[in-house]
Amino acid sequence: MSRRQIFAGNWKMYKNFDEARILVEGLIKNLKGNSEREYVIFPPAVYLQKIYDITKGSPVKIGIQNVYYKHEGAYTGEISIDMAKDCGCDYVLVGHSERRHIFGEENSEINMKLNAVLQEGLIPVLCIGELLEERENGRTEDVLRSQIYSAFEGMTPENALKTILAYEPVWAIGTGKVATPEIAKDAHITARKILNELYGDAVARSVSILYGGSVKPDNIEGLYVIDDIDGVLVGGASLDIDSFADICSVGN
Ligand code: 13P
Repeated sequence: MSRRQIFAGNWKMYKNFDEARILVEGLIKNLKGNSEREYVIFPPAVYLQKIYDITKGSPVKIGIQNVYYKHEGAYTGEISIDMAKDCGCDYVLVGHSERRHIFGEENSEINMKLNAVLQEGLIPVLCIGELLEERENGRTEDVLRSQIYSAFEGMTPENALKTILAYEPVWAIGTGKVATPEIAKDAHITARKILNELYGDAVARSVSILYGGSVKPDNIEGLYVIDDIDGVLVGGASLDIDSFADICSVGN
């Protein structure tokens, strides 16, 4: 079963433009081509257009970290999907844990964003993952089920197939505590089981699921060899040319 393999870097709210330019130019130079892999970066929104101009014609694609689901209107501070497209974006992060837990994004809003992104023809990367407390109380599967069921509510199998999932346990994000390969594997198998409940086996086996949370050059190997992990969504280590290029060249 071949699923798309994605190596993605979420830059969050880091880098000024000069630093961002140096980073992206360095990545383009250092990434070893592998036609089976997609390389995606999610820079801060204000730099998207300029970063796109640098990445054009390279294997690096760009995405936006967040969008609003309305087409246009009086929504001060928000960015529409069309605007992201205009800047050259192919991908959109939806429901990142920092959006959920710092900015209070609810499952219902995430469902609207996911639907809108698919309607506009961009590729959503839907982030899911449990808090430490939820894991410790044995609630990981319940949390993943509720996040997946609500995000996909009303969605056709065709659109579900176009969605990429990213399992990012909240306790592993920015903490240096990577999930062990066994924990990541179990969670990915659980997410696939939940997709199977909703859409059946063929869809469940075709959706790519990325792992995110303290991925570094020294732990990528253990994650990469797991069949159910189809790539990674990297935060901190994607801000450094060598680290991200090393991660992207695992197994090459
Ligand atoms: P870190 O790799 O810094 O833990 O961040 C993960 C993440 O949130 C990617 O979206």
